[in-house]
Amino acid sequence: MHVAVVGTGYVGLTTGVCLAHLGHEVTCVDIDPERVAAIKRQQVPFYEPGLGEMLSTNLSNGRLKITGHIKSDPEVVFITVGTPELDGRIDLSRVEMAARQIGQRLRRDSYQVVAVKSTVVPGTTDTLVRKVLEQSSCLKAGEFGLCMNPEFLREGFAVSDFLDPDRIVIGQWDDRSGRVLAELYRTLECPKILTTLRNAEMIKYAANSLLATLISFSNEISALCEATPGTDVDVVMQGVHLDRRLSPVIDGKKVSPGVLSFLMPGCGFGGSCLPKDVNALRAFARDKGVDPALLDAVVAVNAGRPGQIVSMAESLLGTLDQAEVAVLGVAFKPGTDDTRDSPALPIIQLLAGKGARVRVYDPMVKTLPPALFEMVKICPSVDNALADADAAIVVTAWPEFLELDWADACARMRRPVIIDSRNALRRVCFPSSARYVCIGQVVPEGRV
Ligand code: UDX
Repeated sequence: MHVAVVGTGYVGLTTGVCLAHLGHEVTCVDIDPERVAAIKRQQVPFYEPGLGEMLSTNLSNGRLKITGHIKSDPEVVFITVGTPELDGRIDLSRVEMAARQIGQRLRRDSYQVVAVKSTVVPGTTDTLVRKVLEQSSCLKAGEFGLCMNPEFLREGFAVSDFLDPDRIVIGQWDDRSGRVLAELYRTLECPKILTTLRNAEMIKYAANSLLATLISFSNEISALCEATPGTDVDVVMQGVHLDRRLSPVIDGKKVSPGVLSFLMPGCGFGGSCLPKDVNALRAFARDKGVDPALLDAVVAVNAGRPGQIVSMAESLLGTLDQAEVAVLGVAFKPGTDDTRDSPALPIIQLLAGKGARVRVYDPMVKTLPPALFEMVKICPSVDNALADADAAIVVTAWPEFLELDWADACARMRRPVIIDSRNALRRVCFPSSARYVCIGQVVPEGRV
């Protein structure tokens, strides 16, 4: 099928490249000429494993094109522009602009489906998007197709999540619209939900809000374990997770996934989706006169995590004033260079606010937002960050930190205090001189 994808962020470009990989003729469209030029040169403008190779292949074989304007008349046009957070809500200006440009090209003599993939609150597609498309095309919905097709792409796994999805959700204005989109995904085997536009929009928000809720729940249990001698959050959550309603049973056998899906406590969730989506759903609920008490608590628990980690460092060191503290990891999770809403940012800010001298090392992040950049020293290596440090706080569970020679690293620290805010280093054998503290257990008294 002929497809256009408007917006080449990680969702848009992944969608375009993967649809081309599935055999469709795809044109990716972006208003940013520099981005278009970079993609033409086969460069992915962000870090996403595996996407670069597939981009090159599909640009070379001609199934994928990149341009500044929609030129041909595709059967399906995806809107994959950003919906950034604006005062706790989502900014729909880019969606509106994309819909207007698409509407101006919709034709009466050929049936085309416009599919919103950007994350938008329930009611956006059948009101704002539909109206803009109708006004700019002088057609009525039905003469063109309209769908809402949310993405469930994790950063770092976007390609495999697209090609091997848990489910495909297709919200449809009418049956004809949904049939076209279902045909596009015909070769992907997974449950497909054809439903209303608003259900599709709500599914996306409910899914991400549940994930955020699980994380905040785990973090609250973790704090409770820290106050309860004899408990250990990792054992507790493992015990919780083995419930068959949380661990899948396949062929009569319980499959324990090794990692506890979204029940792993830490220093809080971040990234481009979870924080923004929970906030947008809270605002949406308030607009509807519904009190989002649970989601408010999810955000409050998350907002408290960085402070709890910094307090741990403060009580272990006595004072943070003038202390040399190494923050290990700035990305919101391993496998990405994304620092959006990363818990590392408030951790750095709080440490600096208490007078600590903060050094930072991340294998992929080499710069910080300007306000924070002033406060820290960015180190070229983990060894450099740890040299003569009074404490190290592990914020992102990068494999490099797990594989480090900690005996050697501790020997080079001034005070070998390691605070593991992801419980990632629990199997590491630290030298007896070191003070290793993880989360979700009582922190033994005493300073180093
Ligand atoms: C998320 C959703 O998982 C994906 O389905 C959606 O479409 C986009 O948003 P992503 O933002 O890439 O994906 O990150 P994810 O892997 O979900 O992690 C989000 C945050 O939660 C990270 O900061 C991570 O460290 C944290 N997290 C995750 C925990 O603290 N504990 C967990 O058990 C899992």
